[in-house]
Amino acid sequence: MKPKIIVHGGARNLGNKETERIKDIINACEIGYQVLLDKNAVEAVEIAVRHLEASAYLNAGVGSYLQLDGRVRMDASIMKDDLSAGAVIGIEDVEHPISVARRVMDMTQHVILSGPLATDFAHSEGFPRFDPRTRPKIDLWMEIMEEFHQKTTYEQIFHVDRYLTGRFKLGTVGCVAIDNNGGIAAGTSTGGLKLNVPGRVGDSGIIGAGTYCSKFGGVSCTGYGEKILVLSLARQVVNYLQQGKSAKAMDAAEYGIKELNSLDAYGGIICIDKEGNLGYSYNTEILTMHYIE
Ligand code: GLY
Repeated sequence: MKPKIIVHGGARNLGNKETERIKDIINACEIGYQVLLDKNAVEAVEIAVRHLEASAYLNAGVGSYLQLDGRVRMDASIMKDDLSAGAVIGIEDVEHPISVARRVMDMTQHVILSGPLATDFAHSEGFPRFDPRTRPKIDLWMEIMEEFHQKTTYEQIFHVDRYLTGRFKLGTVGCVAIDNNGGIAAGTSTGGLKLNVPGRVGDSGIIGAGTYCSKFGGVSCTGYGEKILVLSLARQVVNYLQQGKSAKAMDAAEYGIKELNSLDAYGGIICIDKEGNLGYSYNTEILTMHYIE
C-alpha cells in the first residue's frame, strides 16, 4: 500500500491570515508524511495534529478560542482501524490534547476522559502545564465581552446564540493517514466554537461524530459540532464506505456533506478508504487542507 496522508485546518469562510494558515497546514502534513514513511498511521496522525495544534492560526491547542468565561477548554480524539480509540473533552492547561487522547487510548481501559479529571490525568501522565491562550485570542475575547459584561451567566448563554448566528469562526484540525501495511488512523482536535459556552460538548471529542476509523476507512470532520453530533457524521461516512460495494472516499465525503446540508449545517470532511483513496468535501467557502499521496 502506498502511504497517504490528508490534513485539514477547518472549514470556514475566507478570512485573514489564510497564507499563514495554509503554510502551517502544509508543514504539518509534510512532517506527518515523514513519520508515516518511518513508522505507521497512528504515529503520523498524532504528529501531524500536534503540529496543527502548535499553530497560532488554527483553532486547536495554541490559539484556541477562549470560551465565554475566558478559559480555553479543548477536545480531541484519535482512532485506529482496529477500533481502539481515545478522546479528551474540555481539557485545559495542556499544549497537545491529541497526545493526551492517544494516551487515553494506549494506557487506559477507557475511551473518553472529560473536564478537570482529563486535565489531572494529563498532568499526572507528565504532560507539562501549558496555557494555550494567545494575545490575539485574548484581545478578541475582551472586545467581544464588552457586549456581555452586564449580563448574568444564563443571559449570556442565550445572548451568545444570537451573537453567533451567521458569524461562526471555525478552525478545528484533523488528519487521516494510511500506512504501507494498510493501517489506517484518524484524529481531530479543537478549541470549540468562538465563545463556546462552558460545558458545551461539540463533535471533535466524540468517537463516531468528529472522528471515526475502522478497517473500511478513517474520517475527520470539522464544522458545526451540534449537527455533526446528531448525525454521528464520521461513523456515517465510514458506514457508507462499508456498505457501498464500490464506494470510494470522495463519494463518501460528498455523501457526508449532503447529510450536513439536509440540516442546513456547514462543515468539511476528510477521509481515506481501505484502498487508499483520498476524499474530501465541504460546504463552506474553503476547507483549508493538504494531502500527500
Ligand atoms: N467542530 C468543532 C466543534 O463544534 O466544537
